[in-house]
Amino acid sequence: MTQIRVNAGGGYDVVIGEGIDFGGALKERLKKVRKIALISDRTVFGLYGARVVKSLESAGFEVFSHTFTGGENSKNSAEYFKILEFLAEAKLTRSDAAAALGGGVTGDLAGFAAATYLRGINLVQIPTTLLAAVDSSVGGKTGINLSTGKNLAGAFHQPRAVLCDIGFLKTLSEDLIADGMGEIVKHAILKGGELLDELEKNNENNRNYDGFEENNDSARHSGVLKNNNGNTENYDGFEENKDSARHSGGLKNNNGNTENYDGFEENNDSTGHGGGSEKKNETGKNAYGGYNWEKIIALSVAVKAEIVEADEKEQNVRRLLNLGHTIGHAVEKLSGYQIRHGKCVSIGLLYIAALSREKGFLSGGEYERILKLLSKNRLDIPCPYGIDEMSEVILSDKKMSGAMLGAVVIRGIGRCAVEEIPAKEIRNFLRIGG
Ligand SMILES: NC(=O)c1ccc[n+]([C@@H]2O[C@H](COP(=O)([O-])OP(=O)(O)OC[C@H]3O[C@@H](n4cnc5c(N)ncnc54)[C@H](O)[C@@H]3O)[C@@H](O)[C@H]2O)c1
Ligand SMILES: [Zn+2]
Repeated sequence: MTQIRVNAGGGYDVVIGEGIDFGGALKERLKKVRKIALISDRTVFGLYGARVVKSLESAGFEVFSHTFTGGENSKNSAEYFKILEFLAEAKLTRSDAAAALGGGVTGDLAGFAAATYLRGINLVQIPTTLLAAVDSSVGGKTGINLSTGKNLAGAFHQPRAVLCDIGFLKTLSEDLIADGMGEIVKHAILKGGELLDELEKNNENNRNYDGFEENNDSARHSGVLKNNNGNTENYDGFEENKDSARHSGGLKNNNGNTENYDGFEENNDSTGHGGGSEKKNETGKNAYGGYNWEKIIALSVAVKAEIVEADEKEQNVRRLLNLGHTIGHAVEKLSGYQIRHGKCVSIGLLYIAALSREKGFLSGGEYERILKLLSKNRLDIPCPYGIDEMSEVILSDKKMSGAMLGAVVIRGIGRCAVEEIPAKEIRNFLRIGG
């Protein structure tokens, strides 16, 4: 088992390993809790509900279970109110807890209910998708979608514990693994170091997470944007003007360095995940692919935790977690949410990497490392949309503040920065990178 401490909210542990004793882990950490409301979608509950309920009950908790139909469409106000009513009927008090067993939809929905029921009760995240393990279960963002858009109602509510059993990943489809990998690669670009090394290690055995051969076909990553027309006209706004006003104020935290956020400590051990792995994982392989999931998830969570700790409520540094997401969200929207989030983020990462190389920020070698990482995970996907459609969607994005768009650029692996790009420059910005 590996444990990461996150110093946000009241402070909490992320426990990662296979065969977690859920009841025991919570008994140890949530001493006053008597009742646990376990919230899960029906697919996940069918797969893992009984095991989790049994484990919680054997530790002495009184368990109440609530399930809903899985999928993004359930992240709505109707399901949210059903959970609130369920918590009230089970007579949970403020010293009790809600536990979200599932992917990001369950975590966000149950998390928002936990944040608002009785003005906030204890929340436990038990992620079952790779995306939830490395992203949505950590950091305290909870919420639901409104008919006008995604995640428009929500609250910051940090969990009291995150219990990530990597055994749950065995039943994930290739698409769901890819979703999580998109965010993991993002974390590796933000931080570099051990996570990047660990992801690259498996290059040697030429295997992917599900054992298929690598596809190095250059056609997969030739040209990032469709309709690029060979126009390599550069967006050079951020090259010319490097005064601190152009950069997000948030990066002022960076020890006086107003350009790059490279304030991470180099030694990941300092984030507290040196707990050691189970022996079978020390070979770097496990039953479902070439990755050492426990290590990769732990290193990835440590990157997110470090950023969240620096900026819990997304005032500044936390915006770095949006790397690849400006382009990614636009692709997601244009596809009518038919292209999954992880793939959209990867399209964004590939695009930003190409842009950063073009601008001379990213060396050829570093660019190749990013490309290889995406390609080995089958995430080197060219953007299927053209500049016109992309810029239109980006300009209507909620992350536009005034006439500026905050986009994260790669100034080198481990040295990403938020750049404010004037709205009128978006088309030029999009033109680069092919
Ligand atoms: N709060 C945050 O910080 C944050 C960050 C990123 C994403 N999100 C949110 O997360 C959501 C996406 O998360 P997701 O992709 O995990 O979606 P999800 O919760 O819908 O899970 C995807 C599908 O996988 C199934 N599933 C879950 N675990 C499984 C398992 N172990 N085996 C087999 N099937 C399993 C589910 O039933 C579901 O059908 C989005 O709503 C997004 O907005 C939140
Ligand atoms: Zn994301």
